[in-house]
Amino acid sequence: MNKTTETKRKNIPDAEAVSVTPAVAPEPAPEVTVAPKKKILFVASEAAPFIATGGLAEVIGSLSKAVAKDERFDVRVILPLYQDIRKEYRKDFRFIGNIFVPLSWRNQYCGIFEYEANNVKFYFVDNEYYFKRPGCYGYYDDGERFAFFCRSVMEILGFIGFYPDVLHCHDWQAALAALYLKTIYCFRPEYQFIRAVFTIHNIEYQGKYSLDILEDLFGISYRYQNLVEFDRCINLMKGAIECCERFSTVSPTYASEIKDPYYAHGLDQIVRRNEFKLCGILNGIDPDYYDPSTDKALFANYSAEYPANKAVCKEELQKMLGLPVKPDTPVIAMISRLVSHKGLDLVKEVIEQVLRQDVQFVLLGTGDSTYENYFTDLARRYQGKAVSIISFNSDLSRKIYSGADLFLMPSKSEPCGLSQMIASRYGTVAVVRETGGLRDSITPYGAGGNGFTFSNYDAYDMLYVINEALGVYRMKDEWQQLVKKAMETDFTWSTSAKSYEELYLSMLR
Ligand code: GLC
Repeated sequence: MNKTTETKRKNIPDAEAVSVTPAVAPEPAPEVTVAPKKKILFVASEAAPFIATGGLAEVIGSLSKAVAKDERFDVRVILPLYQDIRKEYRKDFRFIGNIFVPLSWRNQYCGIFEYEANNVKFYFVDNEYYFKRPGCYGYYDDGERFAFFCRSVMEILGFIGFYPDVLHCHDWQAALAALYLKTIYCFRPEYQFIRAVFTIHNIEYQGKYSLDILEDLFGISYRYQNLVEFDRCINLMKGAIECCERFSTVSPTYASEIKDPYYAHGLDQIVRRNEFKLCGILNGIDPDYYDPSTDKALFANYSAEYPANKAVCKEELQKMLGLPVKPDTPVIAMISRLVSHKGLDLVKEVIEQVLRQDVQFVLLGTGDSTYENYFTDLARRYQGKAVSIISFNSDLSRKIYSGADLFLMPSKSEPCGLSQMIASRYGTVAVVRETGGLRDSITPYGAGGNGFTFSNYDAYDMLYVINEALGVYRMKDEWQQLVKKAMETDFTWSTSAKSYEELYLSMLR
């Protein structure tokens, strides 16, 4: 109750003490009907801050929060309860009950935990046989583990009394939730109006299995074989694309790229056939989580208006990495998984030409051993100029995002990419190849944009724009303006969360 109503109430005489008959009967109050909230359930295999191995987790964490800010939506997220879920959150999870979940001939225990943050309810599916192991993926029985997870999702809806209007499944690990909905559950009255949308975060990972286990392991009747079959295998991503009302990818450019065999990892014809229900929505980042003016991991805090402390971050980073402290030497950074589609072959081809100039190079990441070995060796040969840290470390990554000048991301393909956005927000100017979300978030300096870009997957085209960037770096005023522009680019979810909301509403019309 606000103050005015409170005082007004106080001034109204007690109805029993004074009985006044009004001269005219009061008009009945107009009926206000509040539309019920649209119920959205995210099904995903990871979500920040609980457990993260990559960009997917960040998107689930920050998109759910952004949509939940809109009062028209009731947003919930469901995840497996992995052993590695961060302890500081886990201790506050509330056990709400357990059920048994059918999976073909199996009948498995499923505990359900609940946690709420930022208006989003999170549910965690507990089964120690499947999830009490280190990490999230990479086990021989991942197919069975995520089949159990997806089947549990469908069973839990009744237990928690939440039948969503939209079931939003992310990547192949959640694809079976959509498949179960359309092949088993939609024949039950409570499930019949649930719409499904499937988001592809990376088309490379499709969930492929032998057809022999369709019924025995996934519990899907052979009647539906053609829904999931592709290339004589079960392909869960293909199945989800076929059976969802809509599917999306994490940037508009990637949405058109995956129609092309160069990017589609075999699924281009499936994508083209279902193009009428495809859209691309660019990811955002959580502006509170990535904020150089408050980030505790940084050596010093700064902002677009007061950028001076970025120099402190650079100096401390150079000291920490054992590089000579040189304020005017540009630091080029890469923070990446060390896998081929990140464009590392281009870097290998020309990095020594870059290093012959007055620059410093810092790499942070893990991945394929050939790249790990290459960059370790590079750092050994260019001591005092190049540093390679073969690990994944969030605290260090933030120190690098803030302390570097240029951020190199020459991916061969990139569904969206978040690092170029984080780097820009920390005033580190991105140099990217124009693909997927990189093309949609970084625009070329020459055209008044916020970074540097090249279009062909070619090492010398990349070298050319690196040199262009180094040239602009030497022009102090221009560079400062560019840094400001990068920092002020809107990478928040504000626009993209609206696009998802419109997508949901359009499916319910
Ligand atoms: C995947 C993609 C990456 C994207 C992320 C979040 O990791 O490879 O480009 O940013 O998902 O959608």
